[in-house]
Amino acid sequence: MKKHTVKTIQAMRDEAQTITMLTAYDYPTAKKVNDAGIDMILVGDSCAMVVHGHPNTLTATMDMMVLHCGAVARACDRTMVIADMPFGSFQYSIEETMRNAARFVTEAKVDGVKFEATPNHIEKTEAIVKMGIPVVGHVGLHPQAVGALGGLKVQGKDVDTARKVVSEALALQEAGAFAIIFEAVPAKLSAYVTEKLSVPTISIGGGPGCSGQLLVTHDVLGMYDNFTPSFAKRYQEVGQLMLDTFTQYKEEVLAGVFPGEEHSYKMSDEVLEAIEKEFNK
Ligand code: KIV
Repeated sequence: MKKHTVKTIQAMRDEAQTITMLTAYDYPTAKKVNDAGIDMILVGDSCAMVVHGHPNTLTATMDMMVLHCGAVARACDRTMVIADMPFGSFQYSIEETMRNAARFVTEAKVDGVKFEATPNHIEKTEAIVKMGIPVVGHVGLHPQAVGALGGLKVQGKDVDTARKVVSEALALQEAGAFAIIFEAVPAKLSAYVTEKLSVPTISIGGGPGCSGQLLVTHDVLGMYDNFTPSFAKRYQEVGQLMLDTFTQYKEEVLAGVFPGEEHSYKMSDEVLEAIEKEFNK
């Protein structure tokens, strides 16, 4: 199976094949996501929360994201890898946005970038697309605006915010975004916009009417307890499995069960006797 590209993702949407996407932040997890046949990975700035333990995504930096993106990209020979541009990396100028987008491609070798573009950032989307870097748009809830929004809240339930979702999605498509993420948007609204757009839509809390689905891997695995959005599904309790495993390891070490003979290196009695003779003089 060849690596996904903008073209194969668009073909999936055109053939009504549902696109699957997960987040990943490190090599071993990305490898499993790749091997499971997931079509796209987002190296989300959510890593500031689920990997680094910060209370929100605002503390993610370019250096942090480039490091995580490189690890993920090295694991993926099939899955398309998208870097999330952190807060402060695309707000100041078109030039700086272009330079930061280029860093993700040259240093981390990702396949595209995503950013929380409002109408103020449409020109930046166009500029990155013109550089030849595939761009994913992101409408609905922008977690980087958590302060201004007063929390991580559903977007698009009233006419004003619904209009914002629709017009931003249309503007992003016009600017050249090859896919658009719908975060925490009522299902009916994302289904409506999906019909209007010709590029794929990816839902994270946007309901089943989108062209694809995305979740944060730590939510899927049950590895992050500080906050689980209501749209996320915990498929496993890997956090509990880790806790049980570490507890068992501690018990076995204290009880002398681990390490057993099979986990220890052997040497001949003659070598030990020679050492004892030399050092017990
Ligand atoms: O950082 C992230 O994981 C994201 C998704 C929630 C869309 O931006």
